[in-house]
Amino acid sequence: PETGCLSIIVLGASGDLAKKKTFPALFNLYRQGFLQSNEVHIFGYARTKISDEELRKRICGYLCKDASPDHSEDVSKFLQLIKYVSGSYDTEKGFQQLDKEISEHELAKNSAEGSSRRLFYFALPPSVYPTVCKMIKKCCMNKSDLGGWTRIVVEKPFGKDLESSERLSAQIGELFKEPQIYRIDHYLGKELVQNMLVVRFANRLFLPLWNRDNIDNVQIVFREDFGTEGRGGYFDEYGIIRDIIQNHLLQVLCLVAMERPVSLKPEHIRDEKVKVLQSVLPIKDEDVVLGQYEGYRDDPTVPNNSNTPTFATVILHIHNERWEGVPFILKAGKALSSRKAEIRVQFKDAPGDIFKCKKQGRNEIVIRLQPSEAIYMKLTVKQPGLEMATAQSELDLSYRQRYQGVTIPEAYERLILDTIRGDQQHFVRRDELKAAWEIFTPLLHRIDSGEMKPIPYEPGSRGPAQADELLAKAGYVQTHGY
Ligand code: BG6
Repeated sequence: PETGCLSIIVLGASGDLAKKKTFPALFNLYRQGFLQSNEVHIFGYARTKISDEELRKRICGYLCKDASPDHSEDVSKFLQLIKYVSGSYDTEKGFQQLDKEISEHELAKNSAEGSSRRLFYFALPPSVYPTVCKMIKKCCMNKSDLGGWTRIVVEKPFGKDLESSERLSAQIGELFKEPQIYRIDHYLGKELVQNMLVVRFANRLFLPLWNRDNIDNVQIVFREDFGTEGRGGYFDEYGIIRDIIQNHLLQVLCLVAMERPVSLKPEHIRDEKVKVLQSVLPIKDEDVVLGQYEGYRDDPTVPNNSNTPTFATVILHIHNERWEGVPFILKAGKALSSRKAEIRVQFKDAPGDIFKCKKQGRNEIVIRLQPSEAIYMKLTVKQPGLEMATAQSELDLSYRQRYQGVTIPEAYERLILDTIRGDQQHFVRRDELKAAWEIFTPLLHRIDSGEMKPIPYEPGSRGPAQADELLAKAGYVQTHGY
């Protein structure tokens, strides 16, 4: 492992993402010993003029969910690692000051053989990414002769469509090389998303079945039981396809559909993901249902004629040997009846149905990402008793039961650790991002121009009924049970 001084710089330190996700993730890493006090210093940078103490006070309450006394000591030690620098995002002055502070820390902490590592975490609106990249490049790069690195961590939205995303990629790409750029999609940090490759490629059971001969349809679903509360202004500019489907669900699709990578090396995995994305056919209008929950426009930050979808079901078709003819149904919505994210792989009916059990349902593997992580398989079994009757039942791996006492790491925690270790496996490569935008840009333009309109749905419902009709048309058979 690399040694030497590590400076983690949280840009946008006084914002929501930093407070709710970045600092708590850093705290958890600290608590587990991944960030050593003798090596690490954390810098918060933002425009707000506040003191170190003020920043510490602001983030303190978010650091850990259970504020038991044995954690309070960790919390205060962790907070002592944080310094705050205020400055603007588009002038050199603040960044020069930041560089001075980082360098002082490096000087104080580095032993003779140590290198310097600088990790810049962008908890910022993407509109400032290009200028901030320029400022870092100009004022804040690692200068140690003893090696080390400078890396940047950026988060979506990476543009609004293919063109704007490519422009942003080019601007950042002029200043930083691909191995220095970590594009976070936090779904790639979720335990059960990471499990996908293992389940698929380490189990003989699934290998011969994972194809168009056996699988009827695949569903990747994201549901939230709350609306855009407090984020209406941001959300209205993007909508559910850019917010969830084009990134989170599409990344999950890649892992479900990709071929076996040559190895677990990040480039091998990402090569296979890109191939899946490049094989997706253009989206047809009849494969799309859009929705907007009633009351969405009551938010004062949302225009009262907004055409932005808060719900969408989109069917993608992958044009390759493994998947031709298998619909991949991506479904996401806000203000629905429940909060859930899951992958459902539904198998075809067993031929020669001597039990006449076809109507009871199909084999299905469900990978529940959240809440309550689980993998379960729906099977048809004999109904216990004297009669020869069949029933649907489940083989169930519930993580809470099976891994009692094991804490599942938060996505951000795992991903930040990867950025420190230099592992890009769970980060989106530039060509992946481009291919993802290529799939959705024509549809997004049609929605933005008002050519396609969302159907109103009641908050707390399943979304528009047309979405269920589309699912049935795609061949999905609703089964009972879980
Ligand atoms: C974010 C979206 O990327 O993911 C939010 O911008 C959404 O709208 C969130 O609520 C969901 O993340 P998770 O991890 O709670 O499923």
